[in-house]
Amino acid sequence: MELKNDLILRAARGEKTERTPVWLMRQAGRILPEYRAVRNSLSGFIELVKNPDLAAEVTIQPVDILGVDAAIIFSDILVIPEAMGLPYEMIEKKGPWFPQVVKSESDLAKLNIADASTDLGYVIDAIKVTKRELAGRVPLIGFAGAPWTIFCYMVEGHGSKTFSNARKMLYNEPALAEKLLEMITESTIAYLKAQIAAGADIVQVFDSWAGILPPQQYEDFSLKYIKQICDAINEVPITVFAKGAYFARKSMANLACETIGLDWNMDIAESRMLIGEHKTLQGNLDPCALYGTNAEVEKATKVMLDAFGPNRHIANLGHGVYPDIDPEKVKVFVNTVKEYSQTLRH
Ligand code: CP3
Repeated sequence: MELKNDLILRAARGEKTERTPVWLMRQAGRILPEYRAVRNSLSGFIELVKNPDLAAEVTIQPVDILGVDAAIIFSDILVIPEAMGLPYEMIEKKGPWFPQVVKSESDLAKLNIADASTDLGYVIDAIKVTKRELAGRVPLIGFAGAPWTIFCYMVEGHGSKTFSNARKMLYNEPALAEKLLEMITESTIAYLKAQIAAGADIVQVFDSWAGILPPQQYEDFSLKYIKQICDAINEVPITVFAKGAYFARKSMANLACETIGLDWNMDIAESRMLIGEHKTLQGNLDPCALYGTNAEVEKATKVMLDAFGPNRHIANLGHGVYPDIDPEKVKVFVNTVKEYSQTLRH
C-alpha cells in the first residue's frame, strides 16, 4: 500500500520536506476521551494491548482526532519481559508491577528469548489490522524499549526514581547483568523485525531510564546493546530516544540510526553541534508547555521550530504527553507545526 503521507519517513532519511512532520509520544492513550471509552469497555490495559482490533482502533484515534503525521502501535515496552517469561501487571494509578524479578543466575535460567511470532503474536496482529485500516494515510511506528530500560523493570520489578536495585547489579554482578541484557537485545531485534515484516514503516527504541547511569556505564550497559539493535535493523529507519542522556549525544552520533530523539532539557543548537548534520533530530517541546494558553502553546512551538530549522527535524514533545493535557492544546501544537514550518521553507 502506497503511503499518502510519508513526511516522517522522508524527514528521517534526511530528504527535504514541504513542512516539518509532527506526532507525539504517548499520543495513543489517556489524553483522549475516545481512548478512555474503549479502555473502560475492557477489564484493563493489558487486555486492550492483547486485543488486536481494539488496539488498532486506539492506534488510529490520534490520526483522526489530532491530525498527527504518524500512528504509533498501541502496546507497551513491557510486552518483552512478559514474552521472555516475566509477566507484568498494570496497577491503576501506580504503574507496572512484576510479581517475579531477576535477582540471580537461577532466575535468569528460567527466562527464554522471546519468540515474536508466538509470544508476541497479538502485537503483530494489531500491526496488520492497523495497517489495513490506515490504508496508507500515514506511516505506522513500531517500537520497543531499549535493553537497559527493560532491564530496569525486570530487575527492579516496578517503577522507581532511582532503580537502585537494577543499578546495584551493574556493580555487584556485571556478568549476570550482561547476560540478561544480551537476552533482551536478542529478543528485541527479533521483535522489531517481526513488527517491520507485519508493516511497521519506522521503529523507535525508547531508553526512558538512560539518564540515571553515569556516562561510562551508559556506554557499557546501554549504548552497546542499542548499537547492536541499530546495526541489525536495516529494513526501515530507526529512531533512538534516550531520555536524559545529554552526556551521550556525541557518542550517539555514531549509531546506525536515522533519528535521535531529544528531551526538553537538551539544548537544540548544542545537540545539533554534538550530533552533527547527518542525523534527523526529533522532539523536543517541554510536555508542560501544553498547559499554557493557546497563544502560549503556539509561541513555544514556533520558538522550537525556529531553533531546529526546516531540515532533518521531526516535531514532537521531549517525552510522552501527560494524561491530563487538554487535546485541544495538542491540536494547537500540531497545527502550529503544520502551518508555521511551511513558512520556514521560503
Ligand atoms: O501512544 C503511544 O505512545 C503508544 C503506546 C505506548 C504506551 N506505552 C501505552 C501505555 C508506548 C510507546 C509506551 C512506551 C512505554 N511504556 C515507555 C517508554 C516511553 C516513556 O514514557 O518513557 C515506558 C517507560 C513504559 C512503561 C509504562 N507503561 C509505565 C511506566 C506505565 C505507567 C505509567 C503511565 O504512563 O500510566 C505504563 C502504562 C501505559 N502504557 C499506559 C499507556 C496508554 C497507561 C495505562 C492505562 O491506560 O491504563
